[in-house]
Amino acid sequence: MNQSRFPHLIDLDNYPVSCWNRITDLSIDIKRNPHIYIGACSGKIMGTLFYEPSTRTQMSFQAAMLRLGGGIIGFDNPANSSVSKGESIKDTTKIASGYSDIIVMRHPLEGSVKAAAMTSDCPVINAGDGGHLHPTQTLTDLLTLRAEKGTLSGLTVGFCGDLKNGRTVHSLLKALSCYKNNKFVLISTNELKVPTYIKDRLSASNKEYTEASSLEEAIPMLDVLYMTRIQRERFGSPEEYEKQKHVFRLDGKKMKLAKKDMIVMHPLPRVDEISAEVDDDPRALYFKQANYGMYVRMSLILSVLNEDIKTKPLFTGKIYPDVYCRNPKCITASEPSLPHVFRNHGGVLECEYCDERLLLE
Ligand code: NCD
Repeated sequence: MNQSRFPHLIDLDNYPVSCWNRITDLSIDIKRNPHIYIGACSGKIMGTLFYEPSTRTQMSFQAAMLRLGGGIIGFDNPANSSVSKGESIKDTTKIASGYSDIIVMRHPLEGSVKAAAMTSDCPVINAGDGGHLHPTQTLTDLLTLRAEKGTLSGLTVGFCGDLKNGRTVHSLLKALSCYKNNKFVLISTNELKVPTYIKDRLSASNKEYTEASSLEEAIPMLDVLYMTRIQRERFGSPEEYEKQKHVFRLDGKKMKLAKKDMIVMHPLPRVDEISAEVDDDPRALYFKQANYGMYVRMSLILSVLNEDIKTKPLFTGKIYPDVYCRNPKCITASEPSLPHVFRNHGGVLECEYCDERLLLE
């Protein structure tokens, strides 16, 4: 496999944990002393390729680059780019990376940003690939936890909502499993449980987790409650979504059952899973969390452009030309020219793009 030499951020696993800590440390310094960083990226260009809607991620990346003195190019509606003429991710990335020093990309297919990184001539940052991963939201969440709880260890964290399709949940669970003594309560309906590969990751790092179906019963034991919306756009049919919406709702009554120092986080946007009355509770941190996102992205852009990051190889598996990933939402299903790369775990193959598993026959 041709390994890229750039410090791409596709999955937080691409960077060592010490690097996540350095990025959040630097964000704290940038937030305290913004004047020092004005012009730190002057003359640099960030390309933002957003194939899916975004408010916070895109605007915070743009604000971050502008505050560092750099420039921005890109699109937020693929209908206005050559994508609408049928251009592949490979070609769009190749061209955009020739115009940019760093690329930030969001796409509805799982593994798509990794596929883009393979052909890019500059570092690529994953701003969300379908229902798979969202590493820069996780950096935001780690910074929020450090700043507001003072630690990333010894926490009981409840995740509530669409744990199947919520990419922020997947990335944050993986990240928090790397710190000591964290416990997880996974609150969802039966249909929207956390994918098995994430649960295996928790078990492999000896992290205790329980699955629950009642927010009311789980809330008293939590230090952190991470709420998420039901991801309507990832359902196969409107009927399936209808059955899942409105199941979980955090309101003032439930907040009364929570610890006095429990914090509520949410990557936003919220639909109806947190009632507006909770916004005035000092434990509701989701708006502050969104603001931390800008500082973390300033820090990330700076670190990547200053080459202050040690990366691991983009691919660790092998090419199996005759094996096909069975996940219809995987990028390999729509871009057939991509090499079929899998990690082999004792006969179980794991797709390098989307983490879907299949048995080797
Ligand atoms: C999330 C996302 O896009 O995955 N939002 C964000 O980036 N802050 C969460 C969501 O869309 O529900």
